[in-house]
Amino acid sequence: MSEVTKKTIENLPGVGEATAEKLREAGYRTIESIAAATVAELREAAELGEAQAKKIIAAAREAADFCSFVTADKVMEKRQKVGLITTGSASLDDLLGGGVETQAVTEAFGEFGSGKTQLAHQLCVNVQLPREQKGLEGKAIFIDTENTFRPERIRDMSLGVGLDPVKVLQNIYYVRSYNTDQQILIAEKAEEVVERENIRLIVVDSITAQFRAEFTGRETLALRQQKLNRHLMTLHRIADLHDLAVFVTNQVQARPDIFFGDPTKPIGGHILAHSATTRIYLRKSKEQRRIARIFDSPNLPEREAVFRITEQGIKD
Ligand code: GTP
Ligand code: MG
Repeated sequence: MSEVTKKTIENLPGVGEATAEKLREAGYRTIESIAAATVAELREAAELGEAQAKKIIAAAREAADFCSFVTADKVMEKRQKVGLITTGSASLDDLLGGGVETQAVTEAFGEFGSGKTQLAHQLCVNVQLPREQKGLEGKAIFIDTENTFRPERIRDMSLGVGLDPVKVLQNIYYVRSYNTDQQILIAEKAEEVVERENIRLIVVDSITAQFRAEFTGRETLALRQQKLNRHLMTLHRIADLHDLAVFVTNQVQARPDIFFGDPTKPIGGHILAHSATTRIYLRKSKEQRRIARIFDSPNLPEREAVFRITEQGIKD
C-alpha cells in the first residue's frame, strides 16, 4: 500500500542529491508533493530550469500513479477495512457511525472549553484499546500547537478504561509545533514515524490556531487558505495510504443568537469546511455535559448526541 511513499525523490530522473536536498528544504518531501506542484513552484524551490522542472514533475506524476482509476468494488473492499476508535461515549460513537474512522480526517470544532482537547486526549488512549473494547491496538501521534497536551490527563483516562498509564504514555508520540511552517513539516515527517510504528491515530490540536495567529488581515487570507489546504491534503493522504485516523480541532466562536443552521458560520470559523471528511460541532451544556452535532458528512445524518467530560475522561 505504501509502495509509492517508499520511492524517494532522489530516484526521479533529473533529481540529483543537491536538488533533492533543496526540494526537501522547500517542503517537497514526497513524490506526490512534486507531482502536485506547478513548474513555476518547483523552479523557485530548487533553482531549476524550466525544462528540468517539467521533466521532474512529469516523472513524479508517473511514479505517483497520480490518476489511477480503480473499480468501485475495490473502493468497497477498502471501505470495509475502515477501523473505528471509540470516543468513550456510546451516544457519540453512535452519532459518528461507530467511532472515529480511519482513512479519514475528522474535525472537532466549537468554542473554548467545548471539549475538543479532551476528546483528542481520549482518542490517544482509546486507540490503544483491544478491538473487543473498540480500539485499534495502535499508537498515536499528538501534534500540539497550543501547549495544551497534559500527560496527567492521559494517565487519568488510561485508568478510566483499565489500561496501564505507563504503557499508554509510551505509545503516544508527542511533538510541539510553534508555527505553521513547522506544523506543515511535522505532518509531512510524521509519515516516517507512521512507517516505523503501528500508528493508527494522528491528532493535530489545534489545526487552525497558528494559522490564525500568523495570517491576520484580509490580504493574507488566500495564502493562509492555500497553506492550510496543503497541510490538510498531507493529512488526508497519510490517513488514506496508511489506514489511520486523523483528528483535528478548530476553535470557533459560538453565536448564541443563532439556533438553526451553522451557528458558527458568520465568524471566522468556516475555513476548514469541505476539507475534513467528518465535522463534529461541539457545544457546552450544563456542567460536565457537552452536545455534539455532525455537519455535512458524506455518509452520516445530521443528528445530535450528549456526552460528559468526567475525571476519568469522556463518558455517556
Ligand atoms: P479550546 O482549546 O480553548 O478551544 O477548548 P477545548 O474545546 O479544547 O476545551 P477542552 O477540551 O480543553 O475542555 C475543557 C473542559 O474540559 C473544561 O472546561 C472542563 O470542563 C473539562 N475538563 C478538563 N480537564 C478535566 C478534568 O480533569 N476533569 C474533569 N471532570 N473535567 C475536565
Ligand atoms: Mg483545546
